Amino acid sequence: MSTRIRCTVNGKPAELTGDPMDRLLDALRETLKLTGTKEGCGEGECGACTVLLDGEPVCACLVPIIQVEGREIVTIEGVEKNGQLDPLQEAFVTEGGAQCGACTPGMILTARALIDRVPEPDRAVIREALAGTLCRCTGYERIFRSIESVTRCDAGAPSEEESS
Ligand code: FES
Ligand code: FES
Repeated sequence: MSTRIRCTVNGKPAELTGDPMDRLLDALRETLKLTGTKEGCGEGECGACTVLLDGEPVCACLVPIIQVEGREIVTIEGVEKNGQLDPLQEAFVTEGGAQCGACTPGMILTARALIDRVPEPDRAVIREALAGTLCRCTGYERIFRSIESVTRCDAGAPSEEESS
């Protein structure tokens, strides 16, 4: 059975077609060619596929397209504004929060949702928010620093050894 789903992706109307249970991850990557959303585990464990659904981070590998009818999706391609990178994107480059980059879209989207809700999160809050998004490269310290350089909040920052 094929269905047609209408939603908003990165501020623009979008239409997804396929089986109602097709994964949002595949619809974004294959139908809409938004390949910034990455696949890691495919099982909801790594967070590499994180997108924002009505402002909340979700694992796109776990969301069937039937669930996004009429809803608003933001992918990493949608966080820049008027051709300007989001400050988090800049910070991940300058602070070394992005290395292989596989986790970076999910990290940035998760951090963006957090900062929009809590403008000055401390290290513990950032750590908790990112708990479902795994990184194999950075030891997390540079990711935390990237986010804190945007929020200008470094309260309670542990040493690099503690965080790795
Ligand atoms: Fe979706 Fe790992 S690919 S959580
Ligand atoms: Fe490689 Fe995070 S930068 S997995």
